[in-house]
Amino acid sequence: MTEYSSHILIIDDEENLRHMLSAMLSRQGYRVDTAENGAEGLRLLREKVYDFILCDIRMPEMDGKKFLARALEEQVPSAVIMMSAYGSIDTAIECMKLGAYDFISKPFKKDEIVMVLKKAEERERLKSENNRLRGVISGSEGFCGIISRNAVMQEIFAQIRKVTDLKTTVLILGESGTGKELVARAIHMSGIRAHKPFVAVNCGAIPENLLESELFGHVRGAFTDAAVDKIGLFEQADGGTLFLDEIGEMPLALQVKLLRVLQEEEIRRVGAAVTRKINVRVVSATSRNLESDVKAGRFREDLFFRLNVFCIHLPPLRDRVEDIPQLFGHFAARYAAGSACAPVRCAPDAMRLLLGYDWPGNIRELENAVERGMILCEGSLITAGCLPPSLHTADCVSLVAAPDENLSIKKAEDAMERDLIRKALVKTGGNRTQAAKILEISHRSLLYKLKEFGIDQ
Ligand SMILES: Nc1ncnc2c1ncn2[C@@H]1O[C@H](COP(=O)(O)OP(=O)(O)OP(=O)(O)O)[C@@H](O)[C@H]1O
Ligand SMILES: [Mg+2]
Repeated sequence: MTEYSSHILIIDDEENLRHMLSAMLSRQGYRVDTAENGAEGLRLLREKVYDFILCDIRMPEMDGKKFLARALEEQVPSAVIMMSAYGSIDTAIECMKLGAYDFISKPFKKDEIVMVLKKAEERERLKSENNRLRGVISGSEGFCGIISRNAVMQEIFAQIRKVTDLKTTVLILGESGTGKELVARAIHMSGIRAHKPFVAVNCGAIPENLLESELFGHVRGAFTDAAVDKIGLFEQADGGTLFLDEIGEMPLALQVKLLRVLQEEEIRRVGAAVTRKINVRVVSATSRNLESDVKAGRFREDLFFRLNVFCIHLPPLRDRVEDIPQLFGHFAARYAAGSACAPVRCAPDAMRLLLGYDWPGNIRELENAVERGMILCEGSLITAGCLPPSLHTADCVSLVAAPDENLSIKKAEDAMERDLIRKALVKTGGNRTQAAKILEISHRSLLYKLKEFGIDQ
């Protein structure tokens, strides 16, 4: 793994100082860009993400304070260190109040600036380490917010700890709603990259023709709408983690390019002649059966192996029912806190339903059921009546087997439809278009039925 080196932007109107600083910091291993005034600095910030900005205070056109205000307004994630010459200390202090990270007085010795940067880096690292430990240790909130006592999940937490600090690509598999994104965030948050960006992209949600420039960026004029240079998600995630969600939806043409990026560790913006080095950890996820996509020629085998260096397979909720009571408590408490209502308990008949149901939509479906229950319940007890109809129709499956006790054709039909839909979704790895085909109904009516049966997300 190539060591991550911080990106630094130097903004100063004095050419000599820019050259001196730039040469010195590059020698220290930093990656450095320079700008001669605030306006040029802002332009660079739209193209690249910097860890630190060293900004002079007195400059013609846009001065340091104005630049800082604009950068903060645009929520630039970099730490800004002001450089103040004699007579501008007051402004430097004002800048600190505004939100500058630190300031250093000119003239400064060479070592001094390196020390300030090292201290800032160390402070950032400690801050993220602190957050990380807080998240990992707080047992009641689970491992980075993932709640589970289940043995398979505990093993998964141990696996996450093992890979978290490495650059290994991780592939997360699991049915819809099993917590794939949560695990991706945990891999990022529990490791040394925690203080760098976590960037998530849903490969299925972006039109094919836009996805490439979204991932890799483009240069001005690369295509008709490309009026300005644009930084891609890979560059945004530099030093951190890029989460490629629904990787199975990535078009074949782009799969080749992604493979190359992972191998070369460099990207080329669309329309650009040069490549840029990147240091990004890639985590991907899918609810599809990628291996069968590989066999069917829908997914490249070489990319599959490259992504699948380390695989985490999340069990569905029906295989870890022991987590249901704690998850219920977690979601109920969260909803109560968010909507300022009183905490609730779960009545025994409702808990029986929750435990007996097979949760095709997994934890997300449980989360929705709890929220719905809290809206419908009166007082502080969630009873069976407050739970979604799908949990009750689950009982009807057994009624189909014992028709003597309930002769409702409607209920039996509903239960059967629900069952078939669930099986089709499991079989297709949650792909609704394919499920509709197998069920021989239209995509629209499948969506309608999912909603009706409460399987809708
Ligand atoms: N073990 C868990 N503890 C607490 N909350 C969880 C857990 N697993 C999942 N959740 C919550 O359930 C919801 C769904 O999780 P997430 O979005 O990570 O699932 P997913 O597998 O990515 O789903 P999809 O395949 O539909 O994208 C989220 O709100 C998440 O916070
Ligand atoms: Mg997801």
